[in-house]
Amino acid sequence: MSFLDLAKRRYATKNYDPTKKISVEQIEELKQILTLSPSSINSQPWKFTFVTDPETKSKLAAQSYMNENSINKVNLLVVFHVMEDIEHFEKRNLSILPEAWVSGFYEPLVKANGRANVKAWMQSQVYLSLGYFLSACAHMGLDATPMEGINLKMYKEILSQDGYAPLFAVTVGYADADDWAHPGNLPKSRFALDDVIASI
Ligand SMILES: Cc1cc2nc3c(=O)[nH]c(=O)nc-3n(C[C@H](O)[C@H](O)[C@H](O)COP(=O)(O)O)c2cc1C
Repeated sequence: MSFLDLAKRRYATKNYDPTKKISVEQIEELKQILTLSPSSINSQPWKFTFVTDPETKSKLAAQSYMNENSINKVNLLVVFHVMEDIEHFEKRNLSILPEAWVSGFYEPLVKANGRANVKAWMQSQVYLSLGYFLSACAHMGLDATPMEGINLKMYKEILSQDGYAPLFAVTVGYADADDWAHPGNLPKSRFALDDVIASI
């Protein structure tokens, strides 16, 4: 299937079929795909927690507002985290890069604009991996839902990944055949191509 057709088919699934589980092999493939996600100057300021343990998943579901039901119905929840400590990030992630990338890009164009800018830039890299991940799920025939509607403070406490702050989560599974949000029931709503694409 072409990428355009996949883009038309994928959607933020609201109701999953709890009888259809994704396999261990698919989970391992998704882990490898995320590890290969691109990032600015290959900075990789992230961690991805794959939650399959039913007890932990249920605790997280209870901290996920309107997303609770969806999390309870799938066997995989992936939590995307960003590194918290800028100094540690520079030492661990940037010191191994070609020096010119750090002195020619990171220092003058990111760091020079202040700590808030560095943090926002680091988070942007994690969001980029989300787009990559959602496309990979579609390619693998899996349904997925990105979720910012989660209690970040409680997620951090439950997952206890030292030095990493959760940003959002993604459920992965198979949609219920009657899901009201399926594009067959709820056509995709987007601005017109001419409103979002400029051709010069
Ligand atoms: C970063 C991000 C956070 C989102 N958070 C939620 C969420 O918490 N719950 C939910 O049901 N959908 C969530 N969505 C799904 C969007 O509402 C959905 O992608 C958008 O309405 C477009 O619909 P489509 O993905 O089905 O084409 C989120 C999407 C993104 C990209």
